[in-house]
This record gives sequence, structure tokens and C-alpha cells, in this order.
Amino acid sequence: MKFPAILAAALVLAACGKPAVPEAAPVESAAEPTVQRTGTLNIYSARHYDSDKIMYDTFEKETGIRVRFRESGAPELIETMKAEGDASPADVIIASDAGTLFRFQDAGFTQGIRSEALESAIPPHFREPDGNWFGLARRARIIVYDPSRLQPEDVDQYSDLADGKLHGEVCMRSSSNIYNLSLMGEFIGRWGPDKASAWARNVVANFARPPQGGDTTQIESIAAGECSVALINHYYWVRMATGTDADKAKTAKTKLSFPEQDGVGTHINVTAAAVAAHAPNKDNAVRFIEWLTTQEGQKLLTTETKEFPMIAGVPLPEGLDALPDFKQSQFPLQQLGENQAEAQEIYDRAGWN
Ligand code: FE2
Repeated sequence: MKFPAILAAALVLAACGKPAVPEAAPVESAAEPTVQRTGTLNIYSARHYDSDKIMYDTFEKETGIRVRFRESGAPELIETMKAEGDASPADVIIASDAGTLFRFQDAGFTQGIRSEALESAIPPHFREPDGNWFGLARRARIIVYDPSRLQPEDVDQYSDLADGKLHGEVCMRSSSNIYNLSLMGEFIGRWGPDKASAWARNVVANFARPPQGGDTTQIESIAAGECSVALINHYYWVRMATGTDADKAKTAKTKLSFPEQDGVGTHINVTAAAVAAHAPNKDNAVRFIEWLTTQEGQKLLTTETKEFPMIAGVPLPEGLDALPDFKQSQFPLQQLGENQAEAQEIYDRAGWN
């Protein structure tokens, strides 16, 4: 089977805030002549990490299954799979945020699978009930703030962001970003649309500036004194806090709040994997996703991204041990996708661009 190189991917902005760089053509790891080949596995991934290439290579060496992969933004992967139709070579889809996996599922590009290993390893709220995708690493959407301007109790609930006391203090990224859509998806489910709409309107009224940038931008804006509070996924802060001296100096001016500790817990999302609807190598696809729940798979999946491993007992990536233990929401993540269209309508009506 021919596995076409992607040229368009070079033009695509990386989904996780990394600069756009030309993507490598699909890589076939150097053949190990002693390894008995047991077929192939084609991975479509919306992630962009050097450690993923090591992850694929490790799986290939352990199993003899030849791994080929395509990395691109989720919207481009969806377009690709649309064009390929039933002939798509994709076996596995990997993407961040349950709201993104919903888009693949909604387009008919996933299939439900049963796996005792995955069902016992992954709590039900972190996977699609019919097996259309499985959460493999966790990310928390948290509050970052300037401790010289705000106290912890000012920002210990998501609802604080809508409080008039934070007028002119709030920085946010665009509402069309999947992280914000999924967070609103949980609010709709927990609070109902009316309260969720009021929250969005009142947060907009507190904006220090129009929405802009990615999660890293929000941390930088607080460090620069442009605003005093924002929402981010935890790993952006951890990467900066374990990064260059300049980035460390920025995070040193900020503190983190894990909201809702007295209530339902902080919003959690996942990086997840799905078996593609027309997977030519379905058994290998299931085997790979199961392998991602092993100690080794979990470690390779999270070391560079700074996500929380899904499986208990896996060592935390560097920097995460500095974060407190915190209560995590158990909201069923498949509902984030189901609420996605309504979430965008609520943001649009609130004037959150
Ligand atoms: Fe991200």
C-alpha cells in the first residue's frame, strides 16, 4: 500500500503552540533485519512531538509491526480522510481534546472497538462509551494568575472569572479554540445553558483585551502585567517552568489555581486515540492503543508533553511533581463533543471572538 507524503502539512500551524516547521515525510524506521515483520500500522496524528517518533520506533522494535505515520493539524487530517473515503490507509487516529475526537467520530472516521485491556485500564468518563476513542493522557484546564494582584481565594472557581471584581483583569484566547469549547461543554452540562451563557457574558465584560494568542500567550500577558488572570492547560505552564531561563522568569511571576477543589473538581481533558473506521490493520491498531497504556507507552506519551499519565503508577514527567494533588472533574468527556455546537453559539452570543 502506498502511503502518500504530505506536503501541505508544512504549512499547517502546530496544534500545541509550537512554531510551524516543515513536517518530515512519513518515516519508516530503519529495518532491523532480525525482526520478523508482522504487518504494518498507519497512524494519523494531530500531535507534533519528537518523542512521538521515539514512541513509534519503540513499538515497532518491540512488535515487529512496521509503523508509518502522518502528522498534521486535526482539520487537515479530517479533510484528508474525507478525500480518502473507504480507501483511507489510516489505522489509528491520535488527537488532543475529547472535542477533537468527537469531530473525527462525528464525520464517521472512527469505529467502536471492545478491548478488555482498555476498558479496565481507562475510567469510563475518559473514553467514548462505544469504544470510538480512548483517553490516554490527561490535561487540566486551570487558572493562572498574578499573585501580586490577586489572592488564591479570588480565583479558586471558574465562576470567579465572571465576577465584577476582575473587571479589566482577564486575558483569554479565542472561543473557537477547542480547549475553550470543551470547557464550556462541561459548564453547559453542569450548569445548564442559561448559567453558562451568563458566565460567558460576564467573562467578556472582564476582558483586559480582545482574545488573542494561544495558552502560552496568556501566561506571557500576565507576566508582562497586561492582565492578572487567564485560563490555560497546565502543561504550557510546566513546559515554561522547566524551560529556558527567560520562560522560568515569566512563570515565576505567576501562580496556578486548580479550580473547584471544594466542588466537582478541575476540568480535565485527554489526549486520545481511536481506531479508524476503515482500518486495514485493525488488530495492530488495537494492539498499539493497548500498548500506549503500558508503563513504557505512557512514559513516552507524556514525558515531553507534560501531560498527566492516564495510568496510575507511571512516573510523572519532570516538572509535574511540583504541582499539587488536586481534585479532578469526572464529567463524561463524550458530552463535551455533544455540547460543542451549543458552546460555540453561547460564546458567539456573548461576543467572545
Ligand atoms: Fe495544547
